[in-house]
Amino acid sequence: LAMPLSIAIDGPSASGKSTLAKALAEKYGFIYIDTGALYRTVGLYVHELCLSSQDAEAIVAALPEIHIEMQLRDGRGEVYLNGRPVGDEIRTPVCSLYASDVSKLPEVRAFLLSLQRDIAAKHNVVMDGRDIGTVVLPNADVKIFLTASAEVRAKRRYLELQSKSVSDTYETVLADMIERDRRDTERPIAPLKQAPDAVLVDTSELSPEESV
Ligand code: DC
Repeated sequence: LAMPLSIAIDGPSASGKSTLAKALAEKYGFIYIDTGALYRTVGLYVHELCLSSQDAEAIVAALPEIHIEMQLRDGRGEVYLNGRPVGDEIRTPVCSLYASDVSKLPEVRAFLLSLQRDIAAKHNVVMDGRDIGTVVLPNADVKIFLTASAEVRAKRRYLELQSKSVSDTYETVLADMIERDRRDTERPIAPLKQAPDAVLVDTSELSPEESV
């Protein structure tokens, strides 16, 4: 049996990972796996339990109740939380915050690791996240580290929020972006970091087509 192929894309938020990953998945007929959605789903559950996102002990104690599955549909992995499909509810600002906090916990990272590896062991995937090339799939066939300046990423996120009628200012979005970058880069476990064998692509001045 041929070994499946994998493309790992890591980088900070709004660097264009999901746009690039979806385009590559479509181009090559691979499955697109958004690993941030898994952390967001854990965050959603923890939030629904009314736990603080800082309460590591309670979060770890809740893990055995969390059953996360990915079902493959239309070329991508759809996340199920205890049997129900999660939708845009994992995209809210509070879920972003919870996702970022729960992703610092080694128990949460270990909890989601085999799920990610199992999918890549069975299917050709384009997987995006923060630690795909460094931890999840260290033997990925292609590794890309995608970046863009904080200002460009904040502007993208700001325009996206405006289109959803969220009224945050550009300044708030930029400040949040810088804070989340700092947390994702400085955490001791699986920090956001370019793998030595990853290709660095800066999308600050690139259109989505040019990035592909
Ligand atoms: O990519 P995203 O914004 O949906 O990710 C949400 C959070 O999950 C982000 O703050 C960092 C974390 N994350 C992670 O630690 N490792 C991954 N592979 C993907 C996401």
